[in-house]
Amino acid sequence: MPLGMSRFCCWDLPVALLTLLCSPGSGEKAFEVHIWPKQLVVEPGGSWVINCSTSCAHPDAGGLETTLTKTVLKEQTQWKQYEVSSVSGDTVAYCHFTCSRKQKSDDLRISIYHPPKQVLLKLRPAWVAVGRPFTIECRVPAVAPLENLTITLLRGNETLHIETFGRTMRAPQEARATHSITAHREDGHHNFSCQAELDLRSLGGEVVRRISEPQALMVYEPMQENQVSIIITVAALLLLLFVTSVLLCFVFGRHCIQKRMGSYRV
Ligand SMILES: *[C@@H]1O[C@H](CO)[C@@H](O)[C@H](O)[C@H]1NC(C)=O
Ligand SMILES: *[C@@H]1O[C@H](CO)[C@@H](O)[C@H](O)[C@H]1NC(C)=O
Repeated sequence: MPLGMSRFCCWDLPVALLTLLCSPGSGEKAFEVHIWPKQLVVEPGGSWVINCSTSCAHPDAGGLETTLTKTVLKEQTQWKQYEVSSVSGDTVAYCHFTCSRKQKSDDLRISIYHPPKQVLLKLRPAWVAVGRPFTIECRVPAVAPLENLTITLLRGNETLHIETFGRTMRAPQEARATHSITAHREDGHHNFSCQAELDLRSLGGEVVRRISEPQALMVYEPMQENQVSIIITVAALLLLLFVTSVLLCFVFGRHCIQKRMGSYRV
């Protein structure tokens, strides 16, 4: 027998055997593993229900792998329902099942959010002359994630300014929007407000909205030059009248007292 041929035969046999054993057709069919929900966005501290399941009819093992605190609520051969808690930061949980010595897993991304609990609006100054500038300032303390936040400054129902934020650290922080405009006569007839909207749909959540207390702007007509001079003249006249009356009172008062004292002496 030539050397080459014997080598071929000895290598070929185990490979053929392995292929036979490991082919997907043998043993259990291809199976799937699912975690539900697909995404989770939560406030820190709460607890949530997660379902981990497989299409494998007789899984050897399976479960949820996570750094969070977990408890099994219910289970059957093909699924396990867990309650997870103590979420303090963004994390990933894995659901895994082993079927005929093959393991598969599915992951669940858990994100943390801090809703806008307070929306604080300030008009500066709150008392402004027509034609003069004023600033609308809105603060939203301790909110996250900032990239999902939109702050809208409103005059009545009209949008004056929209502020969005770039990608930042995941820790909650204060978001701020300011806008300066000129006061109009009609501004006194509308309320100003600020809306904070945290859109969590991309993380598997909903839209969380909060609006500030309405704030009114006091608008007054700026005084004309002649109006100012009239006011100054009137004020000066009043002052003069007051000083004169005090002086007169003083002089006549003394006169009276002296007269009375004179009569006592008699
Ligand atoms: C978990 O998911 C599986 C597969 O979707 C489903 O059959 C089962 O009823 C679910 N369990 C619970 C408790 O929702
Ligand atoms: C402005 O807000 C105050 C307080 O909420 C309310 O009483 C008033 O009617 C509002 N004014 C307008 C023009 O909406």
